[in-house]
Amino acid sequence: MKLLVIGTGSIGERHLRVFQQLGRCDAIAFCETHAPRRAEIAERYQIPVELAFPDLDSALSGGTYDAAVIATPAPTHIPISTRLAELGMHLLIEKPLSLTTDGLDELSRVIAAKSLTVAVGYVHRAHPAVEAMKTALDSGRFGRVLQIRTASGQAFATLRPAYREVYFAKPEMGGGAINDMITHFYNVGDWLAGPIQRVMTDADHQILDGVTVEDTVHTLVRQGDRGEVMGTYALNLYQHPNEVLITVVCEGGTVQAEYAKKRWSWMDVPSGAWHHEAVDMPEVDVMYRRQNGAFLDAIEGKGKVLCTLDEAIRTLRVNLASHRSVSESNWQTITP
Ligand SMILES: NC(=O)c1ccc[n+]([C@@H]2O[C@H](COP(=O)([O-])OP(=O)(O)OC[C@H]3O[C@@H](n4cnc5c(N)ncnc54)[C@H](O)[C@@H]3O)[C@@H](O)[C@H]2O)c1
Repeated sequence: MKLLVIGTGSIGERHLRVFQQLGRCDAIAFCETHAPRRAEIAERYQIPVELAFPDLDSALSGGTYDAAVIATPAPTHIPISTRLAELGMHLLIEKPLSLTTDGLDELSRVIAAKSLTVAVGYVHRAHPAVEAMKTALDSGRFGRVLQIRTASGQAFATLRPAYREVYFAKPEMGGGAINDMITHFYNVGDWLAGPIQRVMTDADHQILDGVTVEDTVHTLVRQGDRGEVMGTYALNLYQHPNEVLITVVCEGGTVQAEYAKKRWSWMDVPSGAWHHEAVDMPEVDVMYRRQNGAFLDAIEGKGKVLCTLDEAIRTLRVNLASHRSVSESNWQTITP
């Protein structure tokens, strides 16, 4: 397994580190257009100079690879993915898949024609509390899903101090809380409670210094095959506590994931007691090891990726509908 990581900014570095930790690749090469960053990554991870490329062209002319991680800003994901798929490489593509639907049909066609494995980096599916919720919901033990609520927030300026200088500040590069952050929860909600069919979003810039993109998002949804599940998704990028709370209310019980408390919980008696179950999350890299390990398993025919291309395409359509809803102040239907 020879792997190429494209773009080693914040998330590309994490992927490179995680694949090194997994120890399942014979070689890991990377390309990074920003020279000081390239040197920093090569040194920190002891990547030999012949595997540290200044751009994609030189990486492709300098070697062959079985798989690639596309960790560049969103507008580049589809063109780079299509180019690599044509070369027969398996792909782990970062979220959001893109900012438009341009090129998706062609990418899907090449991937099918070449029988490639593709995963998209909607990593919250790899959180052990979310995975435990998913298993419990799918078992049917709590009955029909009626409502989903996700609420999250973080001190983004502290956690991502360079946010003004990177893609996040620019909508046309995938910036703003819809494309960058709440998209994770649309994706995980879609997975837990059925396909999102309609959205109504209110979003605005409240306080995040030095940018004008939205830092607060409230989305109402209808989801499930017949739109029978009602949901709310709320997020901000400035509250002090770093929290994610996902609650799914079913006919026969309520299920919840609380990241800060590293647990998932359920209650199956009206006004009863919560049953809490701890999950093992010593560090954030745990989620990425699970996600990326599943990607390698799928390439080896031993399992499935956590988020497929089709699932990420659906989330892209939700992102687009959410933006339309903000600008038109109305409900938007997700177009298939
Ligand atoms: N799944 C997650 O948890 C997660 C977290 C952060 C970011 N992301 C996503 O990952 C993508 C990248 O985000 P980031 O935070 O790492 O951004 P970033 O700006 O920190 O890093 C992007 C890097 O790519 C490099 N680059 C740009 N174009 C390139 C090219 N053509 N070839 C090689 N290198 C190139 C840049 O120099 C930069 O170092 C975005 O789509 C973002 O939404 C996902």
